[in-house]
Amino acid sequence: MNDEFLKAKGILEKYNQEHILNFYDKLSEEKQNKLINQILNIDFEQIGSLYENTKHEVEFGNSKIEPINYLEKDKISNEDFKKFNTIGTDIIKNDKFAVVTMAGGQGTRLGHKGPKGTYDLGLDSHKSIFEILCDTLKKAKEDYGTYVQWYIMTSEENNRQTVEFFEENNYFGYDKNKVMFFKQGQLPMCDTKGKLMIDENGLIKEAADGHGGVFESMRKDAVIDDMKQKGIEWAFIGGVDNVLANMVDSVLIGMSIANNVPAAGKSVVKAGPKERVGVFCKRNGKPSVIEYTEITNEMAEAKNENGELIYGESHILCNLFSVKAIDEISKNKLPYHSAFKKAKYINEKGELVVPEKPNAYKFEAFLFDAFESLNDMAIMRVKREEEFAPVKNAEGVDSPETARELYKNFHKN
Ligand code: UD1
Repeated sequence: MNDEFLKAKGILEKYNQEHILNFYDKLSEEKQNKLINQILNIDFEQIGSLYENTKHEVEFGNSKIEPINYLEKDKISNEDFKKFNTIGTDIIKNDKFAVVTMAGGQGTRLGHKGPKGTYDLGLDSHKSIFEILCDTLKKAKEDYGTYVQWYIMTSEENNRQTVEFFEENNYFGYDKNKVMFFKQGQLPMCDTKGKLMIDENGLIKEAADGHGGVFESMRKDAVIDDMKQKGIEWAFIGGVDNVLANMVDSVLIGMSIANNVPAAGKSVVKAGPKERVGVFCKRNGKPSVIEYTEITNEMAEAKNENGELIYGESHILCNLFSVKAIDEISKNKLPYHSAFKKAKYINEKGELVVPEKPNAYKFEAFLFDAFESLNDMAIMRVKREEEFAPVKNAEGVDSPETARELYKNFHKN
């Protein structure tokens, strides 16, 4: 038995996780090394406290939640619009702007095997989501005469497939030198007793650590360094699953610079109290988002005297940050939220269990928790039909069918 094995065993004993080594002898040497490596690198104290936190309800009790001010893009005066546009255009044309797409997720909810970005939306052209997003950047090339630098965040699970997809498709005709991939981090999942789980490979079951991991990963994988070296000052950070995401928006950039704020977020009017979106708000005076899984019914339904939802500025995961702000945020850890999910695992008898009900906690950081570390941020309300066509579920709301309709209507006009 080598030193590393003994060290790993000691750690597991300390944290009551000895079961992780139950099938060690049956693993190939390569997997044995991987498992030991996992054990030596996992922060067991952190996982222990994340598990303890799952026992407490999210409390807004001590925070003061208020609605947030926003600017409606359509109602910006001509003069300001021109001013913002000129400032933003200058930034884009001079290569001081980049786009970051968070594509760590899989298309599981869509019934698609593979990275979500590789999903064929079902248009006549059979374009994948990645190609649709790339079209926006190609349009920006026509408008501003430059290829915007594109950073794509993948995960351990989908990095290889994502890169191969871009290679096979010749980067959809985009400049390959302007595309850089980086990987997000992972955290172990645990069961309802706080025990780590064993996956089908005999290793500790880990899952992507949420899109809030984007900042830390950008630091670790030298994306921030790359931005600084290229003279990039502003970056749009968005999800992969909105096929109308207006990622290169000179007015948003110009507005942020003119208002001297380190970040800005786009919102659309929430479709109703039950829509599964987070909403912008102020929490203890700082910009924030209350997630749909965390908002109380009372808050979700509260209306003002005009009959509008008080918490009705939906966060569409289309946000802009100065590179300085990204740099600062990346130095600190964001909090983790837990989600109770279905997760396959190997039980104590060595059998694969495919649960029908949720059985495991997954821990994720949310990008918008970073907002609270900013002194201020601007919110720009945009039109849903122009900028928000999410592809989340296989059928019904936010499905390929609804996104296709929105996409076609927008491009028809
Ligand atoms: C998300 C937002 C919600 C917002 C809504 C708009 C969260 C927690 N909530 O909800 O506030 O109103 O979108 O559509 O995000 N991703 C990664 N790595 C991860 C997790 C996610 O890259 O570890 C990416 C996904 O690929 C996707 C995006 O982040 O592009 C959104 O993730 P998802 O989990 O689908 O968020 P929603 O619950 O739909």
